[in-house]
Amino acid sequence: MPLVPMKQILDEAVRGGYGVGAYNVNNMEQIQGIMKAAAETRSPVILQASRGALAYTNMYYIKYMVQAAVEDNPDIPIALHLDHGNSFETCRQAIGLGFTSVMIDGSLREDSKTPTSFEENVAITKEVVDYAHKTGVSVEGELGTLGGIEDGVGSGKVMLTDPDEAIRFIEKTGVDALALAIGTSHGAYKFKAEPRLELDIINTIQEKIPGMPLVMHGSSSVPAELIEVINRYGGKLEKTMGVPMESIKEAIKRGIRKINVDTDGRLAITGAIRKYLSDHPDAFDPRTYFGEAREAVYRTVKGKMEDFSTAGHAGDYSFMTLEDMKKIYNG
Ligand code: G3H
Ligand code: 13P
Ligand code: ZN
Repeated sequence: MPLVPMKQILDEAVRGGYGVGAYNVNNMEQIQGIMKAAAETRSPVILQASRGALAYTNMYYIKYMVQAAVEDNPDIPIALHLDHGNSFETCRQAIGLGFTSVMIDGSLREDSKTPTSFEENVAITKEVVDYAHKTGVSVEGELGTLGGIEDGVGSGKVMLTDPDEAIRFIEKTGVDALALAIGTSHGAYKFKAEPRLELDIINTIQEKIPGMPLVMHGSSSVPAELIEVINRYGGKLEKTMGVPMESIKEAIKRGIRKINVDTDGRLAITGAIRKYLSDHPDAFDPRTYFGEAREAVYRTVKGKMEDFSTAGHAGDYSFMTLEDMKKIYNG
C-alpha cells in the first residue's frame, strides 16, 4: 500500500475521538522503533521530517526508509509529513519527493524566527494549500507562535492563538489541520514549574468549526526517568518539565488530533546509548547500541500510542491514496 494522505488519518481520528502522534524521524532506528510500536498496538502513525532531517538524510534516504516502513507494514496507515516547512519552495520539494502532507509554518518568516502578520501568514499558507491540494497532499498551517528557540525553530516569544483569528484563518486558507500555540514550546526545557496550558482555545475553535483537526506542537512529556538515565550515565541535563500526559489527554478530549513529539525520542535514544556504552566499555559494534536505542524509541512511542488512544485504530478504514484525495479536493 502507498503512503496515506494525512487528512484521512486525522479525519478518522476526529470520527473516533482519539489523537495521532506525529513522530520526528531522521534515521532507520527511529523509524523501525516507531513502526514496531505501531504494528504491535495497531496504530495509525504520522512520520514527520523537519528541514533538518531532510538535510541530514540528503532527502532520498528519508524517502526510501519511509517507503521501506510502508512495505514492511502494509496494514498500518502511515503518512509522511513535512514538519515546519518555512517556504513554498520547501513544501514543493517535499511534495515532489512523495510526502503526503506538508506543514507551512507561516507564523514565522522564512528565517523561522521572525513572526509574520496575520495577512502574510494567510497569503503563504493559501499559496501552499492551492498547490498541495492539486496533487491530493494535505496541509497543516500554524497560527500563533510557540516558546522555545531550540534547533533554530521559534521566535523565542510566545503568542497564543487567538480563536477568532483561527476561524478566519481556516476559512481563508482551506488548511486541513491547524497548529495552535496554547502554551507549549519545543525542546527539553519547557517548564520550570507546573505547566499551564490554555486548553479553552481548543474548545472555542471546536465550537465554531466542529471537527476541525487541531495540532499541538511541543508535546513531549520529558519524562523524569529518561533525564535520570542520561544523567546517571554521564549526561548533564538540567532539571526540567515537559507536557504532562494528563494535559495531553485532556487536549485530545477537547479536539487536538495531531500530537507532535520529537524530544522524548531523542532523550530515549541518548539514554539507551549512554547506558549501553557505559555498561559495555568494550563494545564497538554499532548494532548493539543502535539496537538498544531502537528498543528505547519503541517503548517510548508504544506508551504514547496507548495514552493518545491511537492504539487499535489501524484497521478501522481502508486507505485512501493521493489520487482519491485529489478527487475530493478538486471535484
Ligand atoms: O520542531 C522542531 C522539531 O523538533 C525538529 O527539530 O529541526 O532539529 O530536526 P530539528
Ligand atoms: P517536542 O520538542 O516537544 O518533542 O516537539 C516537537 C515538535 O513540535 C515538532 O514539530
Ligand atoms: Zn513543532
